[in-house]
Amino acid sequence: MQVLVVGGGGREHALAWGLSKSPEVKQIWTTSDNAGINRLARYVGGAEKSIESLARWAQEQRIDLTVVGPEAPLSEGIVDAFRSRGLTIMGPTQQAAELESSKVFAKETMVRAGIPTARFVVCDTSTQAKQAVRQLGAPVVIKADGLAAGKGVSICHTVTEADACIVAMMEERLHGEAGSRVVVEEYLTGEEVSVLAFVAGEEVILMPPCQDHKTVWEDDRGPNTGGMGAYTPVPAVHEALLEDIRQRILLPIVRTMANMGRPYSGVLYAGLMLTDRGPHVLEFNCRFGDPETQVIIPRLESSLAEVLWAVATDRLSETKVRWNGHAAVCVVLASKGYPGSYRVGLPISGLEKAAAYPCVQIFHAGTRREGDTVVTAGGRVLGVTAWADDIKQAVDTAYAAANAIEFPGKHCRRDIARKALIRQ
Ligand code: AMP
Ligand code: GLY
Repeated sequence: MQVLVVGGGGREHALAWGLSKSPEVKQIWTTSDNAGINRLARYVGGAEKSIESLARWAQEQRIDLTVVGPEAPLSEGIVDAFRSRGLTIMGPTQQAAELESSKVFAKETMVRAGIPTARFVVCDTSTQAKQAVRQLGAPVVIKADGLAAGKGVSICHTVTEADACIVAMMEERLHGEAGSRVVVEEYLTGEEVSVLAFVAGEEVILMPPCQDHKTVWEDDRGPNTGGMGAYTPVPAVHEALLEDIRQRILLPIVRTMANMGRPYSGVLYAGLMLTDRGPHVLEFNCRFGDPETQVIIPRLESSLAEVLWAVATDRLSETKVRWNGHAAVCVVLASKGYPGSYRVGLPISGLEKAAAYPCVQIFHAGTRREGDTVVTAGGRVLGVTAWADDIKQAVDTAYAAANAIEFPGKHCRRDIARKALIRQ
């Protein structure tokens, strides 16, 4: 089987790594120059410039399965374009991907499906939004309707802060057209968890629950990032709660999407807040999470290619997805300045020493090869994943391996999985 992985971050490296262990896979192709992925996959050679040229290339190359990492190509209709050429691709159609690409569509669909979520008001003007802030009271959350590269959500602690955020998003168009409509939303408190599922037709198979670490500094301080680390399993999510999440959140959204003529197929990611009124949905993503994937894939015992193929061809009900009982932890090494501006092209050392630890895998997020050296090429540079029988051992190994890697300005959070350790 020839598989194409679209995207070039840590998540896609984890997917390529998982696929490289699948017995069915003969060749992996990549759209990126990520130094880690390039050890496992061949570059498509410029065909990634547009969805159309990539689809044409995939047809000529006789790619058997395409797996899409990021949300942007999904929301731009890559699945529709590939399917129209008879190609097999894993992911939702453009219409189904609106569950992530429009916060308004997501909230309205959640209401229709009867899914617990924060109270909200959809606002087309800044006057309406400011009124909604007063109605809901601070703290309050302002969300740009459209995709804003993970920066479209602001938690506002005061009404004044919320007003300033509304002006920036709606009047000054900080995120362009994405902020022409906003959702003003009740602020929820609790522990956050990510529950991802493979979805095809009415079949929903949950992956092990994970916890991400959104802010750049320890103790959930500082600005939000793409994610500074993750771990699985999550002690707070016991079997009964997971079943409740499946019954009251994932199955209803999948059924509702089908009833609306937008059947969902692919990976569905529910970002949840465990409130004292039960789990509430913060967001749906129409793809694998990053860095959640870097801890989920090491727990998959089944062939990743077989599972993704089953999702893409609607045969999930015939497939058994098996997980191991390990705990897995991923520590992200980021560039100084991230999520703001940062330097790139800085040499990375210690990769081989770190990779020599048993039960460790180094996933490259923003790296590129320059001659014999691997250099930094992004805000999130590497994800160091370790797995073990328990979280404590996985945390210790992940940090030991992470400490072996150096590059100028290296930054990582020192408290990844601490919440799980406290609970044990
Ligand atoms: P989203 O992209 O909608 O998941 O939002 C990004 C992050 O903002 C989430 O992971 C939460 O940490 C936070 N967030 C979003 N919505 C809310 C909410 N209603 N209450 C509290 N925090 C939220
Ligand atoms: N880790 C958060 C995300 O993938 O959206």
